[in-house]
Amino acid sequence: MTEDDLDRNRRHFLTVATAVTGIAGAGLVAVPFISSLKPSARAQALGAPVEVPIGSLEPGELIRVLWRGRLVFVLRRTDEMLSRLADNVDRLRDPDSTEVDQQPAYAANETRSVKPEFLVVEGSCTHLGCAPLEDFEVRPAEGWGGGFFCPCHGSKFDLAGRVYKGVPAPTNLRVPPHRFVRDDLILIGTDTGAA
Ligand code: FES
Repeated sequence: MTEDDLDRNRRHFLTVATAVTGIAGAGLVAVPFISSLKPSARAQALGAPVEVPIGSLEPGELIRVLWRGRLVFVLRRTDEMLSRLADNVDRLRDPDSTEVDQQPAYAANETRSVKPEFLVVEGSCTHLGCAPLEDFEVRPAEGWGGGFFCPCHGSKFDLAGRVYKGVPAPTNLRVPPHRFVRDDLILIGTDTGAA
């Protein structure tokens, strides 16, 4: 082995040793971070139900929350939004929400909700999982009464998360299990007890 070979081997050893030390160091930093999470934060990271305060949600306002790493929309619908649900029924693929996997039994109704005012749906397009965008502007000339639009391949959903016909998404937006703990607090991820 030449002197050059020895030098090359020594440099290789030092590079590997430094990399391993770096990984070990990162591990030492990560452990205190995880153990310092509060119990509720740890539980949420594992998929525990998520509390969503809705007391200050204005009519027409949408908030996004994360449950089990999934995006969930909570929309407080106005009376006018609710009245629009009947407008485009003939354009919807499954207006009566007959697909049982798409919502719990207590949300298999015209408004797809426990309380008509509050829509709770997963913000994941049922085509390939993109996050739909809200578009609440009414455009009668386009047959659009407001709802959600997926920018990836153009799927459209109404204000109850019901999918339109003729788009790639096969089913309505999924309603996750949830219940009202109080009038101003929704628990997403469980529906045991009164919903
Ligand atoms: S992922 Fe939404 S239309 Fe394809």
